[in-house]
Amino acid sequence: MERIQKLISRAGAASRREAERMIQAGRVTLNGNVVTELGVQAEETDEIAIDGVVLTFTQVKRYFLLNKPKGYLCTVKDDRGRKTVLELLPDVTEYIYPIGRLDYDTEGLLLLTNDGELMNGLLHPRFEVNKTYVAKVKGQLTPDRLKELRTGIHLEDGLTAPAEAKLMEYNEQGNWSKVKLIIHEGRNRQVRRMLSAVGNEVIALKRIAFAGLTLDGVSRGQYRELTAEEIAMLGHIAGKSGKDNG
Ligand code: URA
Repeated sequence: MERIQKLISRAGAASRREAERMIQAGRVTLNGNVVTELGVQAEETDEIAIDGVVLTFTQVKRYFLLNKPKGYLCTVKDDRGRKTVLELLPDVTEYIYPIGRLDYDTEGLLLLTNDGELMNGLLHPRFEVNKTYVAKVKGQLTPDRLKELRTGIHLEDGLTAPAEAKLMEYNEQGNWSKVKLIIHEGRNRQVRRMLSAVGNEVIALKRIAFAGLTLDGVSRGQYRELTAEEIAMLGHIAGKSGKDNG
């Protein structure tokens, strides 16, 4: 027997944390009965459903790399009818979901999968997965400010880990800068908050790399399936044994 949230994540239907939220929201049933407590135990042979959709534990694992445009949400559904990233992968029939989030207005590299175990690993702070962003910001990003980014910034949810920060361009006429930032944390709106804390508000933000994968060959709005080597590499980063990757 295992906790229901763990089974949901193994079935590839959500991360463990997201599964907990679904349970608390009353969206999960166990053998037809709504479960709202996090401690409830079940087995793969039980009938577990989310929003009435029964989970299966034998589905093929799929892994996609999407070049997300601005104006898409990284959620599976939106009550306000806004577009979601899943609409960009209309041919994928499996119940996949994004590994982490990019803001509605952020573009760039987003991985999606139904492999809950890999997703939990890649999102776990312990594995310090690198994410590379290019931000266009208002004003001049001075050497002092770059140094602050490299040291750590006090945000309302605590000090950030040191980031790699490299100034790529300063446009004096337009008074904007372009900076490349590599971070391994994944706090909400972290890059925007770090840059605004040093005094440079973000005008545009793009993630160009995640865990060593880049956007090469994938234009905006397009996606591709990961190769077996890439999946194995991610499994290695996320501390998986690799036996589930094949
Ligand atoms: N940091 C942000 O501020 N936004 C993102 O979408 C990703 C990282």
